[in-house]
Parts: sequence; C-alpha cells; structure tokens
Amino acid sequence: MRKIAVLTGGGDCPGLNAVIRAVAKSAHQYGLEVLGIRDGFRGAVEGDFMPLTLKEVSGILPRGGTILGTTNRDNPFAYETIVNGAAQILDRSGDVIRNLKEHDVDALLVIGGDGSLNIALKFAGLGLNVIGIPKTIDNDLMATDQTFGFQTAVDTATEALDRLHTTAESHHRVMVLEVMGRYAGWIALYAGVAGGADVILIPEIPYTLNRVAQAIQKRAKQGKKFSIIVVAEGAKPRGGEIVVERLVSGRFDPIKLGGIGAKIGNDLEEQYGLETRVTVLGHLQRGGSPNSYDRVLSSRYGVAAVDAALEEEFGIMVALRGRDIVRVPLNKAVDKLKQVLLIDPLLIAARNLGLEIGD
Ligand code: F6P
Repeated sequence: MRKIAVLTGGGDCPGLNAVIRAVAKSAHQYGLEVLGIRDGFRGAVEGDFMPLTLKEVSGILPRGGTILGTTNRDNPFAYETIVNGAAQILDRSGDVIRNLKEHDVDALLVIGGDGSLNIALKFAGLGLNVIGIPKTIDNDLMATDQTFGFQTAVDTATEALDRLHTTAESHHRVMVLEVMGRYAGWIALYAGVAGGADVILIPEIPYTLNRVAQAIQKRAKQGKKFSIIVVAEGAKPRGGEIVVERLVSGRFDPIKLGGIGAKIGNDLEEQYGLETRVTVLGHLQRGGSPNSYDRVLSSRYGVAAVDAALEEEFGIMVALRGRDIVRVPLNKAVDKLKQVLLIDPLLIAARNLGLEIGD
C-alpha cells in the first residue's frame, strides 16, 4: 500500500473537508501518498487528479463544502459522452480503472451517500480496492448509526425553528419549515424535537391534514395562538403523492423534491382559514462549517478508512456503531435505506411530548 486516492460524490455536506484532511494527515503518518479526485466520479473518468499533501489540507477542518468538488451526476457506468458531436450514454468504468492504474493508485476512498456508494460497490465487483465513507445530511444509510453532516444539518434546522418561533408568536401565525429528507425524516424528527415544533411530518408516515389542523386548533384553545410545523421534503398526505419540483436528467436520483411545505401552507389557509407562512430551508442545511460532533466523526472516519487501506480490507464502508468505528461490507451499507420506524425511541418520545405526527 503506497498510494490512495479519495473522492467526494453526491450532494455536499458539512464535514467533507474534515474527512479529506483526516485522510491526508493520517496517510502522511504512514508515509502513504494521497491523490484527490476532482468532482467525484467525473474526475475519475476524466483523469482529473490533484495531489493532497499536508499543504492542501491545511486549515480546511472547519470549512464547509469540499475542496475536491462534487457532483450528483456522472455515473461512470452510464456516463454522458460526446461522440462525433452527439451525446451518448456510455459505460466508462474502464476509464476509471485505467486512470487509477496509470497513477499507481492502490486503493480508492469514496466519500458518499447512497448513490456514490452504489457506484463504489460496482467497482468493488470489478476488482477495485474500494473503501466507502458514509456521508449525507439525511442520515439514511442503514449500516451506520450516523453519517457525518447530519448533526450540523439538525443544528441549522433547529436554529431556523428557534427564529420562526419568535415571529410566529408575534403574529399569531402558523409557520411551516420544510427541511431536507428525501425518503427519511431524521432531520425533521431531530430538529422538530430540538426546536420545540408542534407538528412533525416525515416521509415514512403519510399525514392527514385534519390531524394537523386539529393540533393547531387545540393549541389555540389553550391560548397558544401560534404553531410550528416542520415537514421533510419527502412527506406526503395519506393517499397522496410526494411533491416533485422537477426532474433533473443525469442525476443518480432524477427527482428533485420541493413544495410540500407550500402545499401544507395553502391547504391550511384554504381549508381551515389558518394564516400560514412557509420557509424552505433548502441548501442552507448542506452548507457552512461542521459542528464539533461532525468534525470529530469526520476525522474518525478518515483515519479509520486509511487504517482499512493499510490492512488491505476492501469492499467495506467505515461505520459508527455505538462509540466504535467498525467496518461493514459495502453491499450491506447500500442495500436498504435507514428510515424512521414507528418504534423509533425518539418518535415515541415526540408523541409523548404531545407532538402531532400527522397519522
Ligand atoms: O441527499 C441529500 C439531499 O440533501 C436531499 O435531502 C435532497 O433532496 C437532495 O440532497 C438535494 O440535492 P441537490 O439539490 O443538490 O440536487
């Protein structure tokens, strides 16, 4: 083991730079050379590599984003390529393998969520020495207790709820905060509890608008003339559909969600006469400096991935189990999404706090 390469794939999240730094610093301790790959798998296909020495990673621990760049398009197994002036979708996985070989790379570290880790798994199947590192603010990867970036996103959403509280109270309004969470409602659930929301709506539990309205009306009867709803972007009404903003071709997941908050706001005003305002938190959740929890977790993941490379254990993802960082087979990491279950202890606690979950 002499040289490792690292890439960041999929949507960015707080802590990516902390992982990159940990990889470079830990590799340096063992005399390993590190290459960064620009813009995720695009750089792997195109051979767009850069050296990652201690100099490049100096000062990046608290910085948001990724110094390597990322993309949630560019799957090497179905890669848009211009041939004779026309765009074609080609399998370019061979280029990735050739580029890594040409640069004498012994192991590839993929920092990514569901989409990027699925690609990593395919490369592992082709014999590449791959190690995954679990990233996503959605925290929806099954094999790890926590992805890095999630806690910072929860902090951001919690602060937004705190701010919405004061204006909601002044104006006696209903405030809806739409947060990210495609198929899993972890951000909504944690931020909802931390930020004292009155209603939490998540993708796993279709909601009934009447339940939501009743919860607001009940509060009004108790003299509380404002209410706060936090809704995950992937939530949907019982018997209804998710709200799709648009389809984006070439992405790992072509569905761009957005609009459920506005729908709930309109429905509450039209059907129940409740004055409502809607805030979409969007990419504020993905940007900015990681909190201390995510800096520590990211650093531990980076170190653990280098350890795995040194021990030549490939086709795995580093994961958090309790307080330990463990190695799990990549196929176990991506075969199922981690969603909020009805028996989730925090969901039960939320109900016992009197929060309305909409079911
Ligand atoms: O997967 C993380 C995530 O933040 C989702 O919750 C969200 O739907 C998606 O990324 C948005 O991605 P983008 O706007 O970058 O395409």
